[in-house]
Formats: sequence, C-alpha cells, structure tokens
Amino acid sequence: MWSLSLVALLGLGCAAAAQLSDAPTRQNFYRRGGAAATVIGNYVYFDGGEISQLLDGKVPSKQSYGSNSAVNSTLSIDISKSWTTSDVTFRTIDRPWWSKNNELVWTDDEAGIFYVWGGSWLRGRNMTVNELWKFTPDGNGGGTWALEPAANPELFQGLHQAEYGAFTNTKDTGFVVGGAASGWTELHRAHNQALPGMVAFNMKTKNWQNGTTGFSPYGTLATAGASAHFVPNFGPNGLIMLTGGMVHTIFGDPDWTTANAFDLRNLTFFDPVTNKAYWQITTGDIPPSPRSFSCLAGFQSSDSGYEIFLAGGRNHRDQFRYDDAYILSLPGFVWTKAPDSPAGRRQLSACVSVGKRQMLNIGGHNGSFGDQDPAPQGLLLFDMTEMKWKDSFNADAADYERAATIKTWYSDNSLDAVQWSSDEVRQMFKIKSTDPPSPSSTADPSTSATSEPQPQSGTPVGAIAGGVIGGVAGIAILAAVVWMLMRRRRNTDPDPDPGLEVDDNQNTHGGYYAADPSKQQWQQASPAHSRPPVPPSELTSEPEYAEIGGGAHNAYYMNPLLSQGTAVEMDATPAHERVHRGHF
Ligand SMILES: *[C@@H]1O[C@H](CO)[C@@H](O)[C@H](O)[C@H]1NC(C)=O
Ligand SMILES: *[C@@H]1O[C@H](CO)[C@@H](O)[C@H](O)[C@H]1NC(C)=O
Ligand SMILES: *[C@@H]1O[C@H](CO)[C@@H](O)[C@H](O)[C@H]1NC(C)=O
Ligand SMILES: *[C@@H]1O[C@H](CO)[C@@H](O)[C@H](O)[C@H]1NC(C)=O
Ligand SMILES: *[C@@H]1O[C@H](CO)[C@@H](O)[C@H](O)[C@H]1NC(C)=O
Repeated sequence: MWSLSLVALLGLGCAAAAQLSDAPTRQNFYRRGGAAATVIGNYVYFDGGEISQLLDGKVPSKQSYGSNSAVNSTLSIDISKSWTTSDVTFRTIDRPWWSKNNELVWTDDEAGIFYVWGGSWLRGRNMTVNELWKFTPDGNGGGTWALEPAANPELFQGLHQAEYGAFTNTKDTGFVVGGAASGWTELHRAHNQALPGMVAFNMKTKNWQNGTTGFSPYGTLATAGASAHFVPNFGPNGLIMLTGGMVHTIFGDPDWTTANAFDLRNLTFFDPVTNKAYWQITTGDIPPSPRSFSCLAGFQSSDSGYEIFLAGGRNHRDQFRYDDAYILSLPGFVWTKAPDSPAGRRQLSACVSVGKRQMLNIGGHNGSFGDQDPAPQGLLLFDMTEMKWKDSFNADAADYERAATIKTWYSDNSLDAVQWSSDEVRQMFKIKSTDPPSPSSTADPSTSATSEPQPQSGTPVGAIAGGVIGGVAGIAILAAVVWMLMRRRRNTDPDPDPGLEVDDNQNTHGGYYAADPSKQQWQQASPAHSRPPVPPSELTSEPEYAEIGGGAHNAYYMNPLLSQGTAVEMDATPAHERVHRGHF
C-alpha cells in the first residue's frame, strides 16, 4: 500500500514536470519558500526551496502536498539594472544535486564565491553523505557548482547536517549556531534532534571545527530557529548578532510549541575570533517573541552606525507567522518598528541587502503554498532610508543613510542613556566622533582575551569535541542504558500540514533562556518498534509519516567509563531499511 501510493505520487510528479518551471511567469507564480540567497557583484543568487504555480490555469491545491514542487535550479537576478517585481527576469542555472529546503549560505566576498551546506532534502529523497557545495559565478549571472573538499575530512564527515541553524559569515569564516537535524537533513539519521553548539568553516583554509561547549554563544544549549548577522564595524573583529530562536532539549524531537524562546530584548552576540559571547539589553519597539525563521539584512550607515532589518518569522507557541518588520540600530541597541509587510505574513524568507539601501525579501509563506503570494514573484523590497516597502528595485539608489526617526534618536543624544551590560561592551560600541572604530580602539586585551578555543587558531578538535553535553548529564544518567526516543504522541506531532494550524496553546512559557529540564520528553521505546528515519519536525510540505514496525534503530547510550557523561550516538540501521514511507 505504501509503495503503491509512493509510485502514484512519483508518477504524478513526472507527468507534471514538463510544464512546471523554477521561474514561472508573474501570472503563473504562486509561492516560493525555503530558498537561501546571497549577493555577488551585480547578481543576487538564490538556491533551493519549493515553489507552487498555476499549471495550465489550474490553481495549486490548498492541500500541502502536491501544490508545491522542488526548485530544481539555482536562480539569479541582475541588480545592475532597475526592475519591478512584475517585470523582473530570472536566470536559471543547473545544479547537480536534488533539491533542499533551508540550506545555509556562506559568502566569500573576497573570492567572489559562495557555499551552501545543510538543509533538508525535499521529501527525504536522493540524499547524499555530507557535502559542501561551492558556487563560482561567471560574472554574467551564471556560474558553476563544485564540491568543496574539507581540509579535515574526518571531522567533516562526522558533522551533523541540519536546518534552521543561525548562520552568517565574516570575511573568512562561516558560522552556524544550533539547528535541527532529522532523517531528511542527514543520511541514515533515525531521529530528530536540535544540535548544541556551533560549527565554523574557515573559507580560506577549508578547515571545519565543531565547538560545542567550547565555543557556542549559547553555551551547552541546543537551539534552533534563530537568525544571525555579522556586523563588521564594531568590536575588534566585528560581532555576530543573534536574534530569536528557541531552546530545545538536546535529546528528542524538538518540540517547537513548548520550547522556551529567546526574547529580542536581551540580545546575545559574540566575537567571531575570540568566540567570547556578550549580551546587551535593547530598548525601543522590541519585536515580539517567540520568533523563529525570521530574516535579517544589514546596512552600514555613512556615520559609522549599523542597522539590521528584521522581518517576519514564526511564533510556534501561538501558531502564527508574523507580518511585521523592525530595525535594530547599532550602536544604540534601539529597535524601531517599520511598517508591516504589505504582502502579509511570512516565514522562511531569504533577505539580502541590495543597491546600497534596499532590502530584498525572497519568498516566504504563511504556512501554505496553496495561497497566492500577494507579492509578485514572491519578491518585496524595503527602502531603509525612506522606511518604505516597495515593489521595485532601484539600481541607482543613493547611499544608505539612516531613516529620519533613527537619526533623531541619535541627535537627541539618546546614546548617552544606554545602560551597557559591561564596560567591555560599551567600549566595543563606542563611536569616536567621525572616525570609524578601529581595532585598536576597542577592548582591553585582558578582558577580550579568552581561553576558549578559537576556530581560526587550529585548536585541536579533540579539545572541544567529545566534551560534556552539559545540561543533560543528569537526565542522561537517569536514562542510563539504551534509550530510544519515540516521537511524541501522533496527535501532537508538530504541525505536519502547515495549512492546518494546530491551535496548541498549552504552553505559556516564554522568557529568556530557561531551558526547563522537566520538559525533556523521554520515552523508552523498544528499538524493534521504532520509527523509520524521521522527517523534520518543522514541516513545510511533507507527507505525514506512519509509524511502522521494524526499521531504523538509533540509540543514545551512556558510556559509564566517561565520567562526565559523554553521549555516544549509535546508528545500527541497515541502509536498506531506511525507506521513506508516506501516505497522502
Ligand atoms: C523538480 O524536479 C522534480 C523531480 O523531477 C519534479 O517533480 C518537479 O516538478 C520539478 N520542479 C519544477 C518546479 O519543475
Ligand atoms: C531523484 O530521485 C528521483 C526518484 O525519486 C529520480 O527520478 C531523480 O532523477 C533523482 N534526481 C537527482 C537529481 O538525482
Ligand atoms: C559537535 O560535537 C558534539 C559533541 O560530540 C555533538 O553533540 C554535536 O552534534 C556536534 N555538532 C555537529 C554539527 O555535528
Ligand atoms: C541577558 O542574557 C544573559 C544570558 O546571555 C544573562 O546572563 C543576562 O543576565 C541577561 N540580562 C538581563 C538584564 O536579563
Ligand atoms: C495566514 O494564515 C492564517 C491561518 O493559518 C490566516 O488566519 C491568516 O489570515 C493568514 N494571513 C495572511 C496574511 O495570509
């Protein structure tokens, strides 16, 4: 029965494939979501995700499956010329792997290339072992993909691939904090898990690092759904700001509706060289939380300030997506509310800064691919200086200047009233008259120095990996022998169909950081009756999964010889048993 419906689905997919497009006309376009985007030279490139469209005039189904298809190429948009979202043209570029949602992107501006890593394989199909892909543009909106080998392949092959991590990059290093791993993000994975820690990839040396307790701005916490942005002009090495996201239990299927959320008032950020983490309380119009899956884009102002635009996202606790937008201004740590999106609620958009002062939002959805995006081609622009949403891109826009309301905040000397979390943080955000902050102007070396391992310094991985999975040690001891985490009761599976909102209001926890061990959802399961490789728990489009007997066994067990309670992951699933089964 399973295989029959699978065959039926594949058959439909093939029959339709000839007419569907990765870049449909404005009239046929319906929705796009889950793409990763970056800018190199005169082009915006974006890759991955899903799309829905009119096919021979037929409206996509409101049902989640069937209406959306994989985007099978990389796309580019020329930003050397002005366009409107109704007449914009896309170029499609071949991509050598099967489609993924929610890849992360790291951009090497100096080399003029970018990388994509992780994400979830659409419907769990055509998965490969861990791979990093590099895109080399040809300067005309095209380019080629190639695999990028790791300088330290053993470490790389052992890394968990995930989606929903908070990623960004400095000029030489890509970072991803946390993320959610599932049977669709990682080949042969048999259970879902939020990842603790942070991975760093040095784009110059191709060296990978997995820092867990050693270098995560969130310590040992497992997090997912946050967003990250590199601010180049504060601190000795620039700073990486984190916004939103959830704290998950380290073991077990991330439960997005009951997890604790990071608020957007107390922001965490870290130095990408020392990895030292800091926090600062913000003021102004603080964006509501919980908020995951929002997007960020940054703009450096002529007077050495820096503004981060934040749009949309998802409130898992109350089960809705946001249609709002905010601007965080630095060094003031003050939020200003921008007008709401004119095109409704959306999560999982990609945002990039283009044309000096414009934010380009690509795709995003309100839980369904069956409702047509009011934004033509799923594209929205926002002019940061005018503080206005637009439906056109202006290639000749003037340099970015702060919006009047933000300027006024500074000219009123409000910066003097900021209550800094520490003198070190104050020093990092000090603006000296007209000079841009220089590396030497910051930090007393005795306070910025840290004994924590640094990704760039080639610290032996052994020193940081294999460490304690701190906060859960006690629980793990209880668990002791062989545990298999069974997914939560079927009827509370998080939102398998994004079109059907689950009004799961059972939780009112919010607040900051309070990972509550009592919420660890442990259940003992017989390995013989565990589930097959599990699809991500934050689904956008996937078929519902049935519980079946037999199949994958993946277990955590405690090694009693390791005094600090290192968890070891065992994968005993024969490859041939790892069959994805769905019903429709
Ligand atoms: C992408 O390829 C898959 C598999 O061939 C197909 O089912 C799908 O319709 C394609 N997507 C588009 C947008 O053409
Ligand atoms: C992905 O798998 C499908 C069958 O599920 C196959 O038809 C298709 O050619 C594969 N695509 C790639 C890019 O490997
Ligand atoms: C990094 O290492 C820790 C400890 O071994 C592990 O729990 C974590 O999943 C690893 N992270 C990734 C992304 O592989
Ligand atoms: C902000 O969060 C940090 C954790 O990163 C915490 O140590 C600090 O006390 C918080 N500050 C306030 C004022 O709540
Ligand atoms: C988003 O979806 C919810 C229901 O899931 C609906 O109530 C709301 O009107 C939608 N909003 C927009 C802007 O489409």
